[in-house]
Amino acid sequence: MAVSIKTPEEIEKMRVAGRLAVDVLDMITPYIQVGVTTFELDRLCHDYIVNVQQAIPAPLNYKGFPKSICTSVNHQVCHGVPGNRKLKNGDILNIDITVIKDGYHGDTSRMFMVGKPSIRAKRLVEIAYECLWIGIRQVRPLAHLSDIGTAIQRYAESKNCSVVREYCGHGLGRKFHEEPQVLHYRNPEAKALILQPGMTFTIEPMINAGKRHVKVLADKWTVVTKDHNISAQWEHTVLVTEQGVEVLTLRANELCPLP
Ligand code: MF3
Ligand code: CO
Ligand code: CO
Repeated sequence: MAVSIKTPEEIEKMRVAGRLAVDVLDMITPYIQVGVTTFELDRLCHDYIVNVQQAIPAPLNYKGFPKSICTSVNHQVCHGVPGNRKLKNGDILNIDITVIKDGYHGDTSRMFMVGKPSIRAKRLVEIAYECLWIGIRQVRPLAHLSDIGTAIQRYAESKNCSVVREYCGHGLGRKFHEEPQVLHYRNPEAKALILQPGMTFTIEPMINAGKRHVKVLADKWTVVTKDHNISAQWEHTVLVTEQGVEVLTLRANELCPLP
């Protein structure tokens, strides 16, 4: 496995791209309301990335993806294609933003709750957020890549949730998806990869309230749970540092929620 080690100059560009991705999520937050279509959210983000940030929305035309952001609602797991679906009270929604600035990517996603979510939905969203941070907490020099997935799976299953296996986190830099693959479940093979300062990758666990199994819809992109139970995902881009980890897509005042 050839995992690139970023130079200080590259790391600075990754910080900029990460910050821009965060800014897009902050910008779009007030628009996430009952009645808005995911298509409108896509258009607002696209225009902001292109015109205000003078950056590139990485998903647009990526392997044929037709839109600039991913919007995954309720039992949609990831890669939801924005369209004329209107958000309704109680929906939970992941918005996943990836921008390219000065040749480097920033990739982050958050869950949003529309109106008043059910207790069950709120709980899943919180558990998924804790799973993300349990993964982040494993990151430090000399840790094994596999520590991330092992910790996430253990926590998710202790809460009677399941971890999606078909999609994973990934190295990030000049390329959208580079090595390593960051699996969010127990995976002894990843034991061989020792984390080193200068590595940059995403952690983005998809956590299901029901069974882990997923399928892809006829649009060839939208991934949904087979059992139609809800799914939640959060994503950060991280840098391995000498001291441990730097989260490149931290939002203002965001703190690790774990004790
Ligand atoms: N942003 C997603 C990720 O976290 C990838 C989206 S690929 C797309 O890796 F083509 F669906 F946009
Ligand atoms: Co990603
Ligand atoms: Co993403």
